[in-house]
Amino acid sequence: MEEDDEKITTTNAIVSVIFFLFLSTINAANAQDNAAIMMKLASSFKPPPPTWISNNNPCKWQGITCDNSGQVISISLASKSIYGTLPSELAQLSNLQTLSLQNNHLTGPIPPLSNLTQLREVFLDGNSFSQVPSNFLQGLPSLQSFSINDNPLQSWSITYGLIESSSLQQFFASNTSLIGSIPDIFGSLPSLKNLKLSYNNLTGFLPSSFAGSGIQNLWINNQKQGLTGVLDVLGNMPNLVQVWVQENDFVGPIPDLSQCTSLFDIQLRDNHLTGVVPPSLTNLPKLLNISMQNNKLQGPIPVFKGDVQVNLGFTNSFCRNTPGPCDPQVTALLDIVSALGYPNELADSWKGNNACQNWAHITCDSNGKVSVINFAKKNWVGTVSPSFASLTSLTSIILNNNGLVGKIPDVLTSLNMLHKLDLSNNNLTGKVPSFGKSVEVITDGNPFIGTNVDTTGSLRSPPGSGDSLHSPKPNLSPYEIMGIVIGVLVLFIVAGFLLYPYFKKWLFKRIYSSKPTPFGKPIIGHNSQGSPMDKSNMLSEHNVYSYGNNFPIELLREVTDNFDDKNILGRGGFGIVYKGVLQDGTQIAVKRMESNVEGTKGKSEFEAEIAVLSKVRHRHLVALLGYCINENERIVVYECMSQGTLGQHLFEYDEMGRSPLTWKQRVVIALDVARGVEYLHSLAQQSFIHRDLKPTNVLLGDDMRAKVSDFGLVKRASDQGKYSLETRLAGTFGYLAPEYAATGRVTTKVDVFAFGIILMELITGRKALDESLPEEQSQLATWFRRVLINKDSIRKAIDSNLEADDEEIFESICKVAELAGHCTAREPLQRPDMGHVVNLLLPLVEQWRPTELESGNGIDIDMSLPHILQKWRAGETATSSGYNDDNSRNYHSTAPTTPTMGLSFNNIDAR
Ligand SMILES: *[C@@H]1O[C@H](CO)[C@@H](O)[C@H](O)[C@H]1NC(C)=O
Ligand SMILES: *[C@@H]1O[C@H](CO)[C@@H](O)[C@H](O)[C@H]1NC(C)=O
Ligand SMILES: *[C@@H]1O[C@H](CO)[C@@H](O)[C@H](O)[C@H]1NC(C)=O
Repeated sequence: MEEDDEKITTTNAIVSVIFFLFLSTINAANAQDNAAIMMKLASSFKPPPPTWISNNNPCKWQGITCDNSGQVISISLASKSIYGTLPSELAQLSNLQTLSLQNNHLTGPIPPLSNLTQLREVFLDGNSFSQVPSNFLQGLPSLQSFSINDNPLQSWSITYGLIESSSLQQFFASNTSLIGSIPDIFGSLPSLKNLKLSYNNLTGFLPSSFAGSGIQNLWINNQKQGLTGVLDVLGNMPNLVQVWVQENDFVGPIPDLSQCTSLFDIQLRDNHLTGVVPPSLTNLPKLLNISMQNNKLQGPIPVFKGDVQVNLGFTNSFCRNTPGPCDPQVTALLDIVSALGYPNELADSWKGNNACQNWAHITCDSNGKVSVINFAKKNWVGTVSPSFASLTSLTSIILNNNGLVGKIPDVLTSLNMLHKLDLSNNNLTGKVPSFGKSVEVITDGNPFIGTNVDTTGSLRSPPGSGDSLHSPKPNLSPYEIMGIVIGVLVLFIVAGFLLYPYFKKWLFKRIYSSKPTPFGKPIIGHNSQGSPMDKSNMLSEHNVYSYGNNFPIELLREVTDNFDDKNILGRGGFGIVYKGVLQDGTQIAVKRMESNVEGTKGKSEFEAEIAVLSKVRHRHLVALLGYCINENERIVVYECMSQGTLGQHLFEYDEMGRSPLTWKQRVVIALDVARGVEYLHSLAQQSFIHRDLKPTNVLLGDDMRAKVSDFGLVKRASDQGKYSLETRLAGTFGYLAPEYAATGRVTTKVDVFAFGIILMELITGRKALDESLPEEQSQLATWFRRVLINKDSIRKAIDSNLEADDEEIFESICKVAELAGHCTAREPLQRPDMGHVVNLLLPLVEQWRPTELESGNGIDIDMSLPHILQKWRAGETATSSGYNDDNSRNYHSTAPTTPTMGLSFNNIDAR
């Protein structure tokens, strides 16, 4: 024990010393980085601001502010008549706090700003930017102010990633071609005060999380097709000061805004608002400016205080041209339809102050009294109003085949002339009041009539128009979803135990055959909520499921030609990956989890993958774009990585018609992977262990920069990131750390081991496990450690494609070889942390940093963020397939792995 402790302390000391040494080099390196990026920025500006050319210290440039260590924190160049573009490297100014470039003539794409953790303010208004990157506005925890008004962008949508910006105070994106609905994210943005999304093409309903938000200024006016649904949620936004919703497709009545005591300006004109203007509106204490023209408002003309500037227009359906109450029958009828949400059709027809003048669905007797109200088969949703009782001459009330809920008001029994009350085929409840003998009361088709079941629940579901039964069903709350997920998981676990014997059989087959299991029968198409989808809205109709986008199955079918074989990118551990192209040209990778008859396979991997990917975002981890849950089927949608897997580039470059990777490329890839994994390991809230690192799970983009993928086996590191005992051994032969294979003990060092194996593969061009070789050589790790003895033997082991006679390169290879040795140390404690690995690799990459930026040769190591999407959009076709996964080598077992099983590293080898 004591000996062990001593070992730990010594290791710690060494690690700290090395860490500090590297820390200092990193700082210097970062300042250099900054300078290089700023030079790039200067060369992208036409013309660069005058002081920029004459001085090679960017911190001295006009509009640039640096911190003490020479890192750029602010770029402020508003209204400087600058032409040109923004280089993608901008995203690497990791200390940037302010980016202020409004009112210039900048063109081209906006670079990815994701993961600039310090970024507080972004002003890009009034330029000519052409598009936003796919992961725009994700991972920006410090963002407070964001403004890109008036840019001719390609269509884009606001994503759920924005909820990470929990300090956001203002978000301005008017006139920027926004499409889709306003995402329901405002519960996560408590500081948001100003939201401006005017002059776009937003559709859908107001998000329910507007309720209770602190929004003061809400500008969502002038949407091309128009936002729709009711405005009810405004009534629950007590901080509102200014509300512009004009020129949309809103329906239903003006809500009760009596809570909005600070409201001074509300623009409601040019919608389809119906119903009586609520008296609370005219009494708002601060109101100064209101417009209501070009709606279908009903009832008495509202009268505001003298200092309020009002525009009522001439096309509303007020009962009289002058203030004052409406005719009593008109008032009663408006009351009746108020309980139905003031259907549009009636607002069109019910004009003037005489209900007997051609009002739709109303019949009067010869005395000018309303005798018949016939709203049969309208699918209107609401309740039966007690105000029917005010129309004392009624003989027939026909309300069959609607969506009426609640109770039948007792007061209806006072209608002396009533002969017929048809309430059939609704959803009414409660006791039927005792009508006189002469009244025919029809209540067939109300399943809960006579019971106390509360059917009014469906009424509270926003944000339908009240016009039809087909208004969308409410989204599930996160708790409900969590409940469902937990329930489903429990089911799987139970099913897992029951099916374990069969599973073992299947597993055996799977290990010895590399053929993928075929999918079950095709699934009848509907999305997870079972509601029909409007195709044009498919991408924009987000459904809340913690984070990310829920893609409709129809869309995924469409973009993959119904999962056609020709679109297969590769076969992964848990499913087949297809390529798809969205309407806007974005290429996506669609991983369809294998589903079997029991529907259990791949689902826990799916849950794990979604759980991890929605929490982590890093430029060296493949990004989640969305997912789809459809009956038994689970689908994950990622960004598409055009260059396929590292495995292909290392072992199948010939078949692919590629040249082998250069050493420089390999070191850069190693560093990328290390950074991605380091990030996974070091997340503050909960760190993750990948558990299945291998070249087939490293994807390469156009620029040959790498991202780690396949998070289906990711495990949350327990508490202090120390040890956890796994009940399920998972991973891939050849990459399994010995202690993990033997005892199931999982730590982050399991990933370090696998990373070490990848380094060995990068150096030797050999696979981790090559059964074609004699037994003593077949396992790379064992063989390589023998090679490490001296430089001569290393030289012999190096991939013949590498330029090992270049001494500089050979030195670099030796360093990586040594690192690989440390990473694969038998004792987990002796393996370095991933952060340490990054620090060791960094100077090796720096070594080949191009000195002058203009040089076009070699790889540009600054270009790391996805240029990829924009290139795809430009129509370049991706050349290779990716995501091949060596199925036969995957090892999954639900067997509890206890020390008594005596599984050792060598045992596994022997299988
Ligand atoms: C929208 O922005 C364009 C420039 O991108 C500008 O010409 C146009 O006037 C703006 N439209 C509105 C309504 O502000
Ligand atoms: C009221 O709003 C209209 C339209 O936005 C504007 O033209 C007018 O100046 C405003 N008046 C006041 C008093 O704010
Ligand atoms: C009627 O109300 C019940 C109880 O709220 C609900 O479960 C049911 O789905 C409703 N039926 C229809 C047809 O709306």
